[in-house]
Amino acid sequence: MIPYGRQDITQDDVDAVVGVLQSDFLTQGPMVPRFEQQIATHVGASHALAVNSATSALHIACLALGLGPGDRLWTSPVTFVASANCGLYCGAQVDFVDIDPRTYNLCPKALAHKLEQAELDGTLPKIVVAVHLCGQPCEMQKIHILAKRFGFKVIEDASHAIGGKYRGEFIGNGKFSDITVFSFHPVKIITTAEGGMVLTNDAELANKMALLRSHGITRDPMQMTHESDGPWYYQQIDLGFNYRMTELQAALGISQMERLDHYIARRHQLAERYSELLRALPVTTPWQHPDSYSGLHLYVIRLKLDAINKTHRQVFDSLREQGIGVNLHYIPIYTQPFYAEMGFNPSDFPASQSYYREAISIPMFQTMTDDQQDQVLAALAEALQA
Ligand SMILES: Cc1ncc(COP(=O)(O)O)c(C=O)c1O
Repeated sequence: MIPYGRQDITQDDVDAVVGVLQSDFLTQGPMVPRFEQQIATHVGASHALAVNSATSALHIACLALGLGPGDRLWTSPVTFVASANCGLYCGAQVDFVDIDPRTYNLCPKALAHKLEQAELDGTLPKIVVAVHLCGQPCEMQKIHILAKRFGFKVIEDASHAIGGKYRGEFIGNGKFSDITVFSFHPVKIITTAEGGMVLTNDAELANKMALLRSHGITRDPMQMTHESDGPWYYQQIDLGFNYRMTELQAALGISQMERLDHYIARRHQLAERYSELLRALPVTTPWQHPDSYSGLHLYVIRLKLDAINKTHRQVFDSLREQGIGVNLHYIPIYTQPFYAEMGFNPSDFPASQSYYREAISIPMFQTMTDDQQDQVLAALAEALQA
């Protein structure tokens, strides 16, 4: 089976992890701060904090931005559930903004329209989570302008997007948002097995998230309510969690980061080749906004169902039967039973509904060979045949 995505682990990665296993620190040693500094420098952010997943990253990002009961968080429905669940963890209400039919990201026009209505109704969101689906950045400048006008905070869920750029600058530099989140799950662009990172240019937010990552505990005398009792002393000054990343994971991440540019370049080669060779088939290939240089975590095609005699399901099944590990990113969140109970109306999200009827993620990973790509193309041609 050719998977839709997979990690690349080299001998250097193995050596880096083994080196940590043989060192004094398995957790809370030098690797985590080194990994944080490496990513902050690479993307141009002032602060980076490694955590044990992007899900944890989203949670502490929302808490640091003050999200709580009575507040609202909006995001795209076409994303992994974690982009929305972070709002519910904080006791806030979650709502969705339909996607742009070309980029499949949260549509700035739909957002503006929904915000205008929400202003009249007194239901404005506190946070909008802009998800860079497949690695393609959202139209961040438009979202930023709306954030200033309507007074909400912006989290970039860049779980798919490390190494990508918006208007020529790396995603994660926080130019148009308050906090950015990366994921290092194995199918993502670089991996630490499980892992994530929050980035911000705001020292106060960084400090808050550092506390939340580790039980709300500080060892900084400046943050304590009274003078330290002694060298053993720490204080819990907030209610936090254990969301820390291990040294093993950070060492793997540092080693993987060395290859990030190469990974993104290879993904772009593969995408260009797909887009060229798929032109002959009844599918829509991913449209790239001119402001965007995607991380290309995923390559999603959409079937032109009017032009073929097969259903979406039949094409999907045929690809799997032919050994192509296709997938579908994502099932619109409002259709998940847990969310459906909240009373969402699918007809409020026509672009997401239509995306879900047609989308298939075909294999895209950095170590994919041209030969494997040819196998995918041949299988797709076969699957689409009448
Ligand atoms: C868009 C998006 N956000 C958040 C997450 C959560 O990432 P993690 O698995 O690191 O918690 C994922 C994972 O698939 C994702 O795709």
